Amino acid sequence: MSALLDGLPPSVLSLAYLVSATLFITGLREMSHPRTAARGNLVSSVGMVLAVGITVLWFDILSPLVLLVALVVGTAVGVWLATTVETTQMPQLVGLFNGLGGGASVLVAGAELVGRAGSAEAAALQSSVVTGAAATTGLIGAVTFCGSLVAAGKLHGLSEHPVHYAGERVLKPLVALVAVGAGVVLVLQPAAFGPVVRADWVPAYWTLVLAASLLGVLLVVPIGGADMPVVIALLNACSGLAAATTGFVLDNSILVIAGTLVGASGMILTRIMCRAMNRSLGNVLFGGYADVARRSDDADDPYEGRVMSTSPEEVEMLLDAARRVVIVPGYGMAVGQAQHAIAELARLLAANGVDVAFGIHPVAGRMPGHMNVLLAEANVPYERLRELEAVNPTFAETDLVLVVGANDVVNPAALTDESSPIAGMPVLHVWEAETVVVSKRSLSPGYAGIPNPLFTRGNTYMLFGDAKETMQALVTEYKERHSP
Ligand code: TAP
Repeated sequence: MSALLDGLPPSVLSLAYLVSATLFITGLREMSHPRTAARGNLVSSVGMVLAVGITVLWFDILSPLVLLVALVVGTAVGVWLATTVETTQMPQLVGLFNGLGGGASVLVAGAELVGRAGSAEAAALQSSVVTGAAATTGLIGAVTFCGSLVAAGKLHGLSEHPVHYAGERVLKPLVALVAVGAGVVLVLQPAAFGPVVRADWVPAYWTLVLAASLLGVLLVVPIGGADMPVVIALLNACSGLAAATTGFVLDNSILVIAGTLVGASGMILTRIMCRAMNRSLGNVLFGGYADVARRSDDADDPYEGRVMSTSPEEVEMLLDAARRVVIVPGYGMAVGQAQHAIAELARLLAANGVDVAFGIHPVAGRMPGHMNVLLAEANVPYERLRELEAVNPTFAETDLVLVVGANDVVNPAALTDESSPIAGMPVLHVWEAETVVVSKRSLSPGYAGIPNPLFTRGNTYMLFGDAKETMQALVTEYKERHSP
């Protein structure tokens, strides 16, 4: 115990952990609503500082100098990432963080095994709970680490396409079997050798880690296309589970609690995303979404000159006549950083008595909550945001839908074309409105790589151009007409 805490009873540590756990849960609760999310983040961070702080001081794990250096380096990297990474690159950053979490768990559990093997403490490791927890950590953590690196690379554009390899169907279960087999050896061997724990079962752990690392790569490499965000969410859950099982290895309750919270919230997010994309988890992990999707890249022009284009001046006239407008943002809004211009347009419309709402699809953009984050940054009141289930029934009474940089999430083929790779995915029924204006630069497909029949509908007009420039032009037009 550090001199700072000398003489304190063990109940102080338990109390500090209890306070931390309460702060984590309170923070998570607050994060579930955009209005309280920032505070929730802060509350959870305080919980984490308390948990980490009391742990390192209580167990005297590191020297103050090493701690200081680690803190300075970690803070510098964190600040650098927070200020330089574009919002469009957030998914791969989250993927990277997940991976590092999994990797850290593997190393901590491994270090614990190596440190105790053959020592007086080794007897404690005979508990199959501890060796079982270590084996689970090694398996989940290594899959998470390598899988996340591949996923982050894919999201960064290194290879968006799924990569299939010879013997894929045999190789994956085979490597999984090696990893699980090494885990079984790890759990059974200490008991099998009686009261004397031998150090030679430690290599079983590293064999397991190697096989699981390979498994992580083999599992994620064949996945591509719009399934990647689900994979990232799943790996996020796995990184939490790996931390929780490390908690059992170290006999540390706060690590078990924090890891379980991450694991549970990651699983909930994975489920929400699967439902939003109408995919089962098994289908995401072992299906071939992007294979089908990319085939349409080679198709002839699917629009054959059947689209009607428009201009900011004409759209301003439509806006002027509209009583109810729904703005549907998508990935293009993020790329064009058009959220401020869109927010201003919404403010102008509302000030002129127009009923304005934003239709938010759960997987619009490239990360969960992508649109919410950008619109909050532009100070769009949260009350204007409507989720898919809430906004869909209102399109029939909407005069104008302004789709800004969205494509897949407004693609009617999801409902009408059973052979479409996005068949069954819930989409925003924008075409039910009286008029639809789609702002994007060209007729290029979205993430799923498929044509969008919305563009050729009789009530759809294409407003070609960069989202920010186009929205700024609309704001200028609208201001000119409505200036006193
Ligand atoms: P997408 O279907 O990807 O379409 C985005 C559109 O934005 C493109 O068609 C592009 O067309 C346009 N665009 C790009 N830059 C633009 C700019 N500067 N100005 C104006 N338009 C621009 O986006 P979506 O509708 O938001 O759907 C999201 C897709 O990503 C779904 O398939 C989803 O499954 C997938 N996905 C989602 C996530 C999460 S969790 N949200 C993560 C990864 C993948 P032009 O090139 O013609 O401009």
